[in-house]
Amino acid sequence: MRLLRQLTKKNPFSGNYLPSRVALFARGRVSLPFPHLWNYREPIRILDAYFQGVEHVDKTGMHNRYLDVPFFPAVLVTRDPSIIKTILLDTGDKPGQFDRDTLPTDGIARATGEDSLLYSNGEQWRMQKKLAAPSFGKNKLFQPEKFAEFEQTFRKTAADRLEILREQQAAAGDAVTPLVLEPEISAIMLEMLVNNFFGGSVSYADIQQRYVPSLTLMIDHMVQDTIAHRIQTPMNVLTGKHKQLRLAKQDFEALTDIALAGRAHGLGMWSQFKSDASNEQLRSNIRVFLAGALEATTSFAGWTFTHLARSPDIQDAIYNEVESVDIYEPDNLAQASNLLQALQETLRLTPSLYFLPRRATVDTTVKVGPDQEMIIPKGTHVLLDVWHANRCEDFWGEAISGYPATRFAPQRWQVLKDKGYSPKDLMHFGFGFGPRTCPGTSLGMLEVALVVGAFVKMFRFTADTKTVEPKAGVSTKPGDGVTINIEVREPYQ
Ligand code: HEM
Repeated sequence: MRLLRQLTKKNPFSGNYLPSRVALFARGRVSLPFPHLWNYREPIRILDAYFQGVEHVDKTGMHNRYLDVPFFPAVLVTRDPSIIKTILLDTGDKPGQFDRDTLPTDGIARATGEDSLLYSNGEQWRMQKKLAAPSFGKNKLFQPEKFAEFEQTFRKTAADRLEILREQQAAAGDAVTPLVLEPEISAIMLEMLVNNFFGGSVSYADIQQRYVPSLTLMIDHMVQDTIAHRIQTPMNVLTGKHKQLRLAKQDFEALTDIALAGRAHGLGMWSQFKSDASNEQLRSNIRVFLAGALEATTSFAGWTFTHLARSPDIQDAIYNEVESVDIYEPDNLAQASNLLQALQETLRLTPSLYFLPRRATVDTTVKVGPDQEMIIPKGTHVLLDVWHANRCEDFWGEAISGYPATRFAPQRWQVLKDKGYSPKDLMHFGFGFGPRTCPGTSLGMLEVALVVGAFVKMFRFTADTKTVEPKAGVSTKPGDGVTINIEVREPYQ
Protein backbone atom coordinates (compact mmCIF):
# COMPACT_ATOMS: atom_id res chain seq x y z
CA MET A 1 0.00 0.00 0.00
CA ARG A 2 2.76 2.36 0.99
CA LEU A 3 4.72 1.67 -2.18
CA LEU A 4 1.63 2.23 -4.31
CA ARG A 5 0.96 5.51 -2.53
CA GLN A 6 4.60 6.54 -2.96
CA LEU A 7 4.58 5.69 -6.66
CA THR A 8 1.39 7.66 -7.19
CA LYS A 9 2.85 10.56 -5.17
CA LYS A 10 -0.06 10.68 -2.74
CA ASN A 11 0.54 12.75 0.38
CA PRO A 12 1.28 10.31 3.27
CA PHE A 13 0.30 12.93 5.83
CA SER A 14 -3.33 13.62 6.64
CA GLY A 15 -5.38 16.16 8.59
CA ASN A 16 -6.08 19.78 7.70
CA TYR A 17 -2.58 21.14 8.37
CA LEU A 18 -0.63 19.53 5.56
CA PRO A 19 3.00 19.61 4.48
CA SER A 20 3.79 20.01 0.80
CA ARG A 21 5.86 17.67 -1.35
CA VAL A 22 9.52 18.17 -2.23
CA ALA A 23 10.70 16.59 -5.48
CA LEU A 24 13.66 14.23 -5.25
CA PHE A 25 15.31 15.90 -8.23
CA ALA A 26 14.76 19.47 -9.36
CA ARG A 27 16.61 21.77 -11.70
CA GLY A 28 18.61 24.67 -10.22
CA ARG A 29 18.28 23.55 -6.62
CA VAL A 30 21.10 24.32 -4.13
CA SER A 31 21.46 20.66 -3.14
CA LEU A 32 19.77 17.28 -3.30
CA PRO A 33 17.31 17.04 -0.39
CA PHE A 34 19.17 14.20 1.37
CA PRO A 35 22.77 13.78 2.56
CA HIS A 36 25.29 11.92 0.41
CA LEU A 37 29.06 11.79 0.03
CA TRP A 38 29.30 15.04 -1.92
CA ASN A 39 27.02 17.27 0.11
CA TYR A 40 27.15 16.03 3.71
CA ARG A 41 29.66 18.71 4.65
CA GLU A 42 27.05 21.35 3.79
CA PRO A 43 23.99 20.17 5.72
CA ILE A 44 22.42 23.63 5.91
CA ARG A 45 22.24 23.61 2.11
CA ILE A 46 20.40 20.30 2.25
CA LEU A 47 17.82 21.97 4.49
CA ASP A 48 17.83 25.07 2.23
CA ALA A 49 16.74 22.75 -0.58
CA TYR A 50 13.47 22.06 1.23
CA PHE A 51 12.49 25.73 1.35
CA GLN A 52 13.87 26.93 -1.96
CA GLY A 53 11.10 28.41 -4.12
CA VAL A 54 8.24 27.76 -1.65
CA GLU A 55 6.87 31.32 -1.81
CA HIS A 56 3.96 30.24 -4.01
CA VAL A 57 2.91 27.36 -1.75
CA ASP A 58 0.10 27.86 0.78
CA LYS A 59 1.10 28.72 4.37
CA THR A 60 1.15 25.29 6.04
CA GLY A 61 2.88 23.77 3.02
CA MET A 62 5.33 26.66 2.85
CA HIS A 63 6.75 25.90 6.26
CA ASN A 64 6.23 22.12 6.36
CA ARG A 65 7.79 20.03 3.59
CA TYR A 66 8.08 16.34 2.97
CA LEU A 67 10.12 13.95 0.88
CA ASP A 68 8.63 10.56 0.12
CA VAL A 69 10.82 8.25 -1.92
CA PRO A 70 9.74 4.69 -2.78
CA PHE A 71 11.14 2.05 -0.39
CA PHE A 72 12.10 4.65 2.25
CA PRO A 73 10.13 6.13 5.15
CA ALA A 74 8.85 9.68 4.61
CA VAL A 75 10.93 12.65 5.77
CA LEU A 76 9.22 15.74 7.19
CA VAL A 77 11.24 18.94 7.42
CA THR A 78 9.46 21.67 9.36
CA ARG A 79 10.38 25.26 10.10
CA ASP A 80 6.97 25.89 11.62
CA PRO A 81 7.41 26.89 15.32
CA SER A 82 3.95 25.58 16.32
CA ILE A 83 4.73 22.13 14.93
CA ILE A 84 8.29 22.21 16.34
CA LYS A 85 7.04 23.13 19.81
CA THR A 86 4.29 20.49 19.84
CA ILE A 87 6.60 17.70 18.66
CA LEU A 88 9.30 18.65 21.19
CA LEU A 89 6.72 18.53 23.97
CA ASP A 90 5.47 15.18 22.72
CA THR A 91 8.91 13.48 22.70
CA GLY A 92 9.62 10.97 25.44
CA ASP A 93 9.23 7.47 26.79
CA LYS A 94 5.42 7.29 26.99
CA PRO A 95 3.70 5.01 24.45
CA GLY A 96 3.04 6.82 21.19
CA GLN A 97 5.42 9.71 21.86
CA PHE A 98 8.10 10.72 19.39
CA ASP A 99 11.61 9.30 19.80
CA ARG A 100 14.77 11.23 19.15
CA ASP A 101 15.72 9.94 15.67
CA THR A 102 19.01 8.12 16.01
CA LEU A 103 19.76 8.01 12.26
CA PRO A 104 21.57 11.39 12.09
CA THR A 105 23.63 10.57 15.19
CA ASP A 106 24.74 7.01 14.38
CA GLY A 107 28.38 8.07 14.12
CA ILE A 108 28.20 9.82 17.50
CA ALA A 109 26.82 6.66 19.11
CA ARG A 110 29.58 4.50 17.61
CA ALA A 111 32.17 6.79 19.17
CA THR A 112 30.54 7.46 22.53
CA GLY A 113 28.31 4.42 23.24
CA GLU A 114 24.68 3.71 22.45
CA ASP A 115 23.41 3.91 26.02
CA SER A 116 24.08 7.66 26.52
CA LEU A 117 21.49 10.24 27.50
CA LEU A 118 21.83 11.78 24.03
CA TYR A 119 21.36 8.65 21.92
CA SER A 120 19.05 6.38 23.87
CA ASN A 121 15.26 6.35 23.73
CA GLY A 122 12.47 4.88 25.86
CA GLU A 123 13.26 3.33 29.23
CA GLN A 124 17.01 3.58 28.83
CA TRP A 125 16.78 7.32 28.16
CA ARG A 126 14.56 7.84 31.24
CA MET A 127 17.09 5.95 33.37
CA GLN A 128 20.01 7.99 31.98
CA LYS A 129 18.10 11.22 32.48
CA LYS A 130 17.50 10.46 36.16
CA LEU A 131 21.10 9.44 36.57
CA ALA A 132 22.97 12.19 34.80
CA ALA A 133 20.86 15.25 34.09
CA PRO A 134 20.38 16.58 37.68
CA SER A 135 24.14 17.17 38.15
CA PHE A 136 23.94 19.92 35.53
CA GLY A 137 20.64 21.39 36.65
CA LYS A 138 20.09 24.84 38.08
CA ASN A 139 19.32 23.42 41.52
CA LYS A 140 22.70 21.74 41.84
CA LEU A 141 24.84 24.22 39.95
CA PHE A 142 23.25 27.38 41.28
CA GLN A 143 23.22 26.40 44.95
CA PRO A 144 24.85 29.50 46.47
CA GLU A 145 27.91 27.74 47.92
CA LYS A 146 28.51 25.45 44.97
CA PHE A 147 27.90 28.20 42.47
CA ALA A 148 30.45 30.49 44.11
CA GLU A 149 33.06 27.73 43.84
CA PHE A 150 32.39 27.00 40.16
CA GLU A 151 32.02 30.63 39.20
CA GLN A 152 35.35 31.45 40.82
CA THR A 153 37.27 28.66 39.10
CA PHE A 154 35.56 29.28 35.74
CA ARG A 155 36.30 32.99 36.01
CA LYS A 156 39.93 32.36 36.92
CA THR A 157 40.36 30.04 33.95
CA ALA A 158 38.88 32.62 31.57
CA ALA A 159 40.90 35.48 33.11
CA ASP A 160 44.20 33.53 33.01
CA ARG A 161 43.77 32.61 29.37
CA LEU A 162 42.72 36.09 28.29
CA GLU A 163 45.70 37.54 30.15
CA ILE A 164 47.97 35.37 27.98
CA LEU A 165 46.28 36.79 24.88
CA ARG A 166 46.78 40.29 26.26
CA GLU A 167 50.48 39.65 26.90
CA GLN A 168 50.90 38.22 23.40
CA GLN A 169 49.29 41.29 21.97
CA ALA A 170 51.50 43.63 24.02
CA ALA A 171 54.56 41.67 22.88
CA ALA A 172 53.53 42.06 19.22
CA GLY A 173 53.70 45.82 19.79
CA ASP A 174 50.71 46.59 17.55
CA ALA A 175 47.60 48.35 18.77
CA VAL A 176 45.38 45.99 16.80
CA THR A 177 46.16 42.30 16.31
CA PRO A 178 44.38 39.90 13.94
CA LEU A 179 43.38 36.65 15.60
CA VAL A 180 41.59 33.40 14.76
CA LEU A 181 39.72 32.95 18.01
CA GLU A 182 38.04 29.55 17.69
CA PRO A 183 41.01 27.44 18.90
CA GLU A 184 41.32 29.67 21.99
CA ILE A 185 37.60 29.36 22.71
CA SER A 186 37.68 25.55 22.40
CA ALA A 187 40.63 25.32 24.78
CA ILE A 188 39.02 27.54 27.44
CA MET A 189 35.74 25.63 27.17
CA LEU A 190 37.41 22.23 27.49
CA GLU A 191 39.54 23.41 30.40
CA MET A 192 36.47 24.66 32.26
CA LEU A 193 34.72 21.36 31.73
CA VAL A 194 37.60 18.99 32.50
CA ASN A 195 39.35 20.86 35.30
CA ASN A 196 36.70 23.06 36.87
CA PHE A 197 33.59 20.93 36.38
CA PHE A 198 34.99 17.40 36.58
CA GLY A 199 37.83 18.31 38.95
CA GLY A 200 40.72 17.22 36.66
CA SER A 201 44.13 18.86 36.62
CA VAL A 202 45.22 18.77 32.99
CA SER A 203 47.77 21.42 31.98
CA TYR A 204 46.60 24.11 29.59
CA ALA A 205 49.31 23.08 27.11
CA ASP A 206 47.91 19.52 27.03
CA ILE A 207 44.36 20.80 26.68
CA GLN A 208 45.33 23.07 23.82
CA GLN A 209 47.83 20.95 21.94
CA ARG A 210 46.64 17.43 22.60
CA TYR A 211 43.05 17.11 23.75
CA VAL A 212 41.31 19.83 21.72
CA PRO A 213 42.83 18.61 18.40
CA SER A 214 42.00 14.99 19.28
CA LEU A 215 38.41 15.75 20.24
CA THR A 216 37.99 17.94 17.15
CA LEU A 217 39.19 15.05 14.97
CA MET A 218 36.84 12.66 16.78
CA ILE A 219 33.87 14.99 16.28
CA ASP A 220 34.68 15.35 12.59
CA HIS A 221 34.95 11.58 12.35
CA MET A 222 31.51 11.17 13.98
CA VAL A 223 29.90 13.27 11.23
CA GLN A 224 31.68 11.42 8.44
CA ASP A 225 30.98 8.05 10.05
CA THR A 226 27.24 8.79 10.13
CA ILE A 227 27.10 9.26 6.36
CA ALA A 228 29.81 6.93 5.10
CA HIS A 229 30.14 4.24 7.75
CA ARG A 230 30.92 1.33 5.45
CA ILE A 231 33.42 3.02 3.21
CA GLN A 232 35.00 5.20 5.85
CA THR A 233 37.42 2.62 7.29
CA PRO A 234 39.00 1.66 3.93
CA MET A 235 39.17 5.35 2.98
CA ASN A 236 40.93 6.21 6.23
CA VAL A 237 43.43 3.40 5.70
CA LEU A 238 44.11 4.61 2.16
CA THR A 239 44.69 8.19 3.29
CA GLY A 240 46.63 7.23 6.44
CA LYS A 241 44.04 9.01 8.61
CA HIS A 242 43.35 5.85 10.61
CA LYS A 243 46.60 6.30 12.60
CA GLN A 244 45.63 9.84 13.64
CA LEU A 245 42.19 8.59 14.49
CA ARG A 246 43.55 5.78 16.66
CA LEU A 247 45.58 8.29 18.68
CA ALA A 248 42.58 10.63 18.92
CA LYS A 249 40.45 7.76 20.28
CA GLN A 250 43.11 7.00 22.88
CA ASP A 251 43.12 10.66 23.96
CA PHE A 252 39.33 10.68 24.13
CA GLU A 253 39.43 7.65 26.46
CA ALA A 254 42.24 9.20 28.54
CA LEU A 255 40.19 12.37 28.99
CA THR A 256 37.14 10.31 29.95
CA ASP A 257 39.28 8.55 32.60
CA ILE A 258 40.48 11.92 33.91
CA ALA A 259 36.90 13.21 34.14
CA LEU A 260 35.80 10.05 35.99
CA ALA A 261 38.80 9.98 38.31
CA GLY A 262 37.53 12.97 40.30
CA ARG A 263 34.53 10.92 41.41
CA ALA A 264 36.45 8.89 44.02
CA HIS A 265 37.61 12.12 45.70
CA GLY A 266 34.39 14.12 45.29
CA LEU A 267 36.15 16.75 43.17
CA GLY A 268 34.34 19.44 41.12
CA MET A 269 30.70 18.59 40.46
CA TRP A 270 31.25 15.01 41.65
CA SER A 271 30.68 16.22 45.21
CA GLN A 272 27.05 16.72 44.14
CA PHE A 273 26.70 13.38 42.43
CA LYS A 274 24.96 10.66 44.41
CA SER A 275 24.48 7.33 42.64
CA ASP A 276 25.40 3.66 42.88
CA ALA A 277 26.11 3.48 39.15
CA SER A 278 29.58 2.15 38.35
CA ASN A 279 32.08 4.29 36.46
CA GLU A 280 31.63 1.92 33.54
CA GLN A 281 27.90 2.73 33.43
CA LEU A 282 28.72 6.44 33.29
CA ARG A 283 31.32 6.30 30.54
CA SER A 284 29.05 6.92 27.53
CA ASN A 285 27.51 9.95 29.20
CA ILE A 286 30.90 11.39 30.14
CA ARG A 287 32.07 10.98 26.53
CA VAL A 288 28.90 12.71 25.30
CA PHE A 289 29.32 15.53 27.83
CA LEU A 290 32.96 16.06 26.88
CA ALA A 291 32.50 16.07 23.10
CA GLY A 292 28.98 17.57 23.09
CA ALA A 293 29.66 20.34 25.56
CA LEU A 294 32.94 21.29 23.87
CA GLU A 295 31.23 21.43 20.50
CA ALA A 296 28.12 23.31 21.63
CA THR A 297 29.78 25.88 23.91
CA THR A 298 32.50 26.60 21.31
CA SER A 299 29.80 27.10 18.69
CA PHE A 300 27.70 29.35 20.94
CA ALA A 301 30.62 31.51 22.11
CA GLY A 302 32.15 31.59 18.59
CA TRP A 303 28.94 32.91 17.07
CA THR A 304 28.54 35.48 19.84
CA PHE A 305 32.03 36.88 19.13
CA THR A 306 31.33 36.82 15.40
CA HIS A 307 28.15 38.88 15.79
CA LEU A 308 29.57 41.28 18.37
CA ALA A 309 32.64 41.96 16.20
CA ARG A 310 30.19 43.38 13.65
CA SER A 311 28.09 45.30 16.21
CA PRO A 312 30.35 47.86 17.96
CA ASP A 313 27.42 49.64 19.66
CA ILE A 314 26.19 46.45 21.28
CA GLN A 315 29.73 45.55 22.28
CA ASP A 316 30.07 48.93 24.02
CA ALA A 317 26.69 48.54 25.74
CA ILE A 318 27.84 45.17 27.11
CA TYR A 319 31.17 46.69 28.16
CA ASN A 320 29.34 49.38 30.18
CA GLU A 321 27.34 46.65 31.82
CA VAL A 322 30.18 44.26 32.72
CA GLU A 323 32.86 46.88 33.44
CA SER A 324 32.01 46.81 37.13
CA VAL A 325 30.90 43.16 37.30
CA ASP A 326 33.52 40.98 38.89
CA ILE A 327 31.39 38.07 39.98
CA TYR A 328 28.93 36.46 37.60
CA GLU A 329 26.35 35.55 40.23
CA PRO A 330 22.91 34.70 38.87
CA ASP A 331 21.65 38.10 40.13
CA ASN A 332 24.46 40.01 38.39
CA LEU A 333 23.91 38.02 35.22
CA ALA A 334 20.18 38.76 35.32
CA GLN A 335 21.03 42.49 35.50
CA ALA A 336 23.29 42.31 32.43
CA SER A 337 20.40 42.65 30.01
CA ASN A 338 22.49 43.64 26.97
CA LEU A 339 24.73 40.60 27.42
CA LEU A 340 21.76 38.28 27.91
CA GLN A 341 19.90 39.68 24.91
CA ALA A 342 23.02 39.29 22.76
CA LEU A 343 23.28 35.65 23.88
CA GLN A 344 19.59 34.97 23.16
CA GLU A 345 19.88 36.62 19.78
CA THR A 346 22.96 34.57 18.95
CA LEU A 347 21.14 31.33 19.72
CA ARG A 348 18.17 32.49 17.66
CA LEU A 349 20.01 33.60 14.54
CA THR A 350 22.77 31.01 14.61
CA PRO A 351 21.61 28.09 16.77
CA SER A 352 24.39 25.65 17.62
CA LEU A 353 22.16 22.64 16.95
CA TYR A 354 20.53 23.60 13.68
CA PHE A 355 17.97 20.81 13.49
CA LEU A 356 16.48 18.50 16.10
CA PRO A 357 15.78 14.97 14.82
CA ARG A 358 12.63 13.04 15.81
CA ARG A 359 10.90 9.87 14.65
CA ALA A 360 7.21 9.00 14.80
CA THR A 361 6.86 5.70 16.68
CA VAL A 362 3.17 5.35 15.69
CA ASP A 363 0.77 7.29 13.44
CA THR A 364 0.74 10.51 15.48
CA THR A 365 -1.66 13.43 15.50
CA VAL A 366 0.00 16.76 16.07
CA LYS A 367 -2.51 19.40 17.12
CA VAL A 368 -1.85 23.01 16.21
CA GLY A 369 -4.57 25.08 17.85
CA PRO A 370 -8.11 23.84 18.59
CA ASP A 371 -9.07 22.60 15.13
CA GLN A 372 -5.95 22.18 13.11
CA GLU A 373 -3.96 18.98 13.00
CA MET A 374 -1.34 17.06 11.06
CA ILE A 375 -1.28 13.26 11.21
CA ILE A 376 2.28 12.01 10.82
CA PRO A 377 2.63 8.38 9.65
CA LYS A 378 4.57 5.89 11.76
CA GLY A 379 8.28 5.72 10.94
CA THR A 380 8.52 9.26 9.51
CA HIS A 381 11.89 10.93 10.06
CA VAL A 382 11.14 14.43 11.35
CA LEU A 383 13.72 17.19 11.11
CA LEU A 384 12.73 20.13 13.28
CA ASP A 385 14.58 22.76 11.27
CA VAL A 386 15.35 25.35 13.91
CA TRP A 387 17.86 27.15 11.67
CA HIS A 388 15.25 28.08 9.07
CA ALA A 389 12.42 28.62 11.59
CA ASN A 390 14.48 31.27 13.37
CA ARG A 391 15.38 33.03 10.11
CA CYS A 392 11.88 33.08 8.70
CA GLU A 393 10.37 36.55 8.29
CA ASP A 394 6.87 35.17 9.01
CA PHE A 395 7.88 34.27 12.57
CA TRP A 396 10.67 36.66 13.55
CA GLY A 397 10.51 39.47 10.98
CA GLU A 398 9.99 43.23 11.15
CA ALA A 399 6.23 43.01 11.59
CA ILE A 400 6.66 40.99 14.78
CA SER A 401 9.98 41.99 16.30
CA GLY A 402 10.82 45.32 14.60
CA TYR A 403 13.90 43.92 12.79
CA PRO A 404 14.45 41.66 9.79
CA ALA A 405 14.62 38.01 10.83
CA THR A 406 18.06 37.45 9.30
CA ARG A 407 19.67 40.40 11.10
CA PHE A 408 21.57 40.16 14.39
CA ALA A 409 19.51 42.59 16.50
CA PRO A 410 19.50 41.86 20.25
CA GLN A 411 17.21 44.90 20.63
CA ARG A 412 14.37 42.82 19.16
CA TRP A 413 14.04 41.07 22.51
CA GLN A 414 13.11 44.37 24.17
CA VAL A 415 10.61 45.12 21.39
CA LEU A 416 9.04 41.69 21.89
CA LYS A 417 8.91 42.20 25.66
CA ASP A 418 7.33 45.65 25.25
CA LYS A 419 4.73 44.12 22.93
CA GLY A 420 3.80 41.70 25.72
CA TYR A 421 5.25 38.50 24.24
CA SER A 422 6.35 36.06 26.94
CA PRO A 423 9.46 33.91 26.38
CA LYS A 424 7.14 30.94 25.67
CA ASP A 425 5.29 32.82 22.91
CA LEU A 426 8.38 33.15 20.76
CA MET A 427 10.88 30.36 21.21
CA HIS A 428 14.20 29.95 19.41
CA PHE A 429 14.74 26.37 20.66
CA GLY A 430 18.48 27.04 21.10
CA PHE A 431 18.53 24.61 24.02
CA GLY A 432 15.63 22.51 22.73
CA PHE A 433 12.35 22.31 24.64
CA GLY A 434 10.24 19.71 26.46
CA PRO A 435 11.41 16.47 28.06
CA ARG A 436 14.60 16.20 25.98
CA THR A 437 15.69 19.76 26.53
CA CYS A 438 19.42 20.35 27.11
CA PRO A 439 20.52 19.38 30.64
CA GLY A 440 23.60 21.61 30.19
CA THR A 441 21.62 24.86 29.68
CA SER A 442 22.64 26.52 32.97
CA LEU A 443 26.24 25.34 32.75
CA GLY A 444 26.54 26.35 29.09
CA MET A 445 24.99 29.78 29.63
CA LEU A 446 27.27 30.42 32.58
CA GLU A 447 30.40 29.40 30.68
CA VAL A 448 29.58 31.40 27.57
CA ALA A 449 28.41 34.49 29.51
CA LEU A 450 31.59 34.41 31.56
CA VAL A 451 33.94 34.08 28.61
CA VAL A 452 32.13 36.69 26.49
CA GLY A 453 31.82 39.09 29.46
CA ALA A 454 35.49 38.75 30.39
CA PHE A 455 36.59 39.16 26.77
CA VAL A 456 34.50 42.28 26.15
CA LYS A 457 35.87 43.73 29.37
CA MET A 458 39.43 43.30 28.18
CA PHE A 459 39.27 43.80 24.40
CA ARG A 460 37.48 45.85 21.76
CA PHE A 461 37.17 43.74 18.61
CA THR A 462 36.17 44.17 14.98
CA ALA A 463 35.94 42.10 11.80
CA ASP A 464 37.07 42.79 8.23
CA THR A 465 34.06 41.22 6.55
CA LYS A 466 30.38 42.09 6.87
CA THR A 467 29.08 38.53 6.96
CA VAL A 468 30.37 35.04 7.65
CA GLU A 469 29.06 31.83 6.12
CA PRO A 470 28.25 29.02 8.57
CA LYS A 471 30.02 25.67 8.54
CA ALA A 472 28.04 22.81 10.02
CA GLY A 473 28.71 19.32 11.29
CA VAL A 474 27.46 18.21 14.69
CA SER A 475 26.85 21.91 15.34
CA THR A 476 27.14 25.14 13.36
CA LYS A 477 30.22 27.36 13.63
CA PRO A 478 31.40 30.53 11.89
CA GLY A 479 33.11 29.44 8.65
CA ASP A 480 36.13 31.72 9.19
CA GLY A 481 37.11 30.19 12.56
CA VAL A 482 36.05 33.49 14.28
CA THR A 483 38.60 35.77 12.60
CA ILE A 484 38.68 39.13 14.40
CA ASN A 485 40.98 42.04 15.17
CA ILE A 486 41.51 42.70 18.86
CA GLU A 487 42.58 45.84 20.65
CA VAL A 488 43.16 46.07 24.40
CA ARG A 489 40.61 48.40 26.04
CA GLU A 490 42.96 49.45 28.81
CA PRO A 491 46.62 49.87 27.88
CA TYR A 492 48.76 47.05 29.27
CA GLN A 493 50.73 48.14 32.39
C1 HEM B 1 25.98 26.08 25.71
C2 HEM B 1 25.77 25.44 24.66
C3 HEM B 1 24.79 24.31 24.45
C4 HEM B 1 23.80 24.32 23.52
C5 HEM B 1 23.47 25.45 22.57
C6 HEM B 1 23.11 23.04 23.63
C7 HEM B 1 22.01 22.68 22.86
C8 HEM B 1 21.28 21.52 23.06
C9 HEM B 1 20.02 21.23 22.41
C10 HEM B 1 19.33 22.12 21.39
C11 HEM B 1 19.60 20.01 22.84
C12 HEM B 1 18.29 19.31 22.47
C13 HEM B 1 18.47 18.34 21.34
C14 HEM B 1 17.14 17.73 20.91
O1 HEM B 1 16.09 18.12 21.37
O2 HEM B 1 17.18 16.84 20.05
C15 HEM B 1 20.60 19.50 23.75
C16 HEM B 1 20.56 18.29 24.37
C17 HEM B 1 21.57 17.80 25.16
N1 HEM B 1 22.66 18.52 25.63
FE1 HEM B 1 23.13 20.42 25.20
N2 HEM B 1 23.71 22.29 24.60
C18 HEM B 1 24.73 23.04 25.16
C19 HEM B 1 25.55 22.66 26.20
C20 HEM B 1 25.56 21.43 26.79
C21 HEM B 1 26.41 21.04 27.88
C22 HEM B 1 27.38 21.97 28.59
C23 HEM B 1 26.13 19.73 28.13
C24 HEM B 1 26.70 18.79 29.15
C25 HEM B 1 27.76 18.99 29.82
C26 HEM B 1 25.10 19.30 27.20
C27 HEM B 1 24.57 18.02 27.12
C28 HEM B 1 23.42 17.68 26.41
C29 HEM B 1 22.80 16.35 26.44
C30 HEM B 1 23.31 15.13 27.16
C31 HEM B 1 21.63 16.43 25.67
C32 HEM B 1 20.60 15.31 25.41
C33 HEM B 1 19.51 15.37 26.45
C34 HEM B 1 18.40 14.35 26.25
O3 HEM B 1 18.25 13.83 25.16
O4 HEM B 1 17.65 14.10 27.21
N3 HEM B 1 24.76 20.37 26.41
N4 HEM B 1 21.62 20.46 23.88
